[in-house]
Amino acid sequence: MTNPETTYTDADYWSQRWEKNEISFHKSTIHPFLEKHLDKLTNNNESQKQIFFPFCGKELDMAWLASLGHEIVGVEFVEAACEQFFNENNIKYTVSILKNFKLFTSQNGKIRIYNGDFFNFNLEYEKAFECVWDRGALVALPADLRVKYAEHIQTLFSGQNLRYLLDTYDYDQELYPGPPHSVRMDEVKKLYGLKYKIEVIESQIHNRPFNERLKESNNLYEKLYLLSNI
Ligand SMILES: C[S@@+](CC[C@H](N)C(=O)[O-])C[C@H]1O[C@@H](n2cnc3c(N)ncnc32)[C@H](O)[C@@H]1O
Repeated sequence: MTNPETTYTDADYWSQRWEKNEISFHKSTIHPFLEKHLDKLTNNNESQKQIFFPFCGKELDMAWLASLGHEIVGVEFVEAACEQFFNENNIKYTVSILKNFKLFTSQNGKIRIYNGDFFNFNLEYEKAFECVWDRGALVALPADLRVKYAEHIQTLFSGQNLRYLLDTYDYDQELYPGPPHSVRMDEVKKLYGLKYKIEVIESQIHNRPFNERLKESNNLYEKLYLLSNI
């Protein structure tokens, strides 16, 4: 059933949030789950990888992983987020137009952020991905769009050696309309379980509840899944 309070998260919604600086989702430190489980994302750091950041915002983690030698590909609706990422991390960049996207590329070519709609992004732009860091992406979307998102992201995978870290929240959605939305194991299984092995590799009480009701419930978890080939 659709929750009548659910916020519809289209390009205007996100543009306004960035314009008003309502970006409490942005972390000014490296995400601790990513830091802890980096070996799982990169398969024990065996070589330099191309890592996909859908709905990347201006995640600091992109600069960090690039500094470790990995290549980063992000997709983000809001142009200001792309600019802020490069400027705040003192990374020189160029901008070009590529079909449906404005492409922001770091001077050394290792970070590429496609400014445009994720649903227009496909393998004409980049080679297929094995490594995905999904934070604030699947959970940013209402339920109907999560189905579309999961279908679309799978068209971008190489089909082998997938290492997809999916960061989620688990809470009673009656207490808060989202985003971020509550996405539980049963849904992750429905979205990805036919093709991929799904493991919960981290589960912690989230210490910054999104409202008072969630705070009182003391039942808001942040959970990290690893999706890999069966
Ligand atoms: C909750 S924020 C998370 C940003 C980032 N992943 C982080 O953890 O800081 C969601 C971001 O996804 C972007 N976004 C939402 N829908 C999108 C779409 N269809 N295509 C590209 N970006 C999108 C928004 O502009 C916003 O910056």
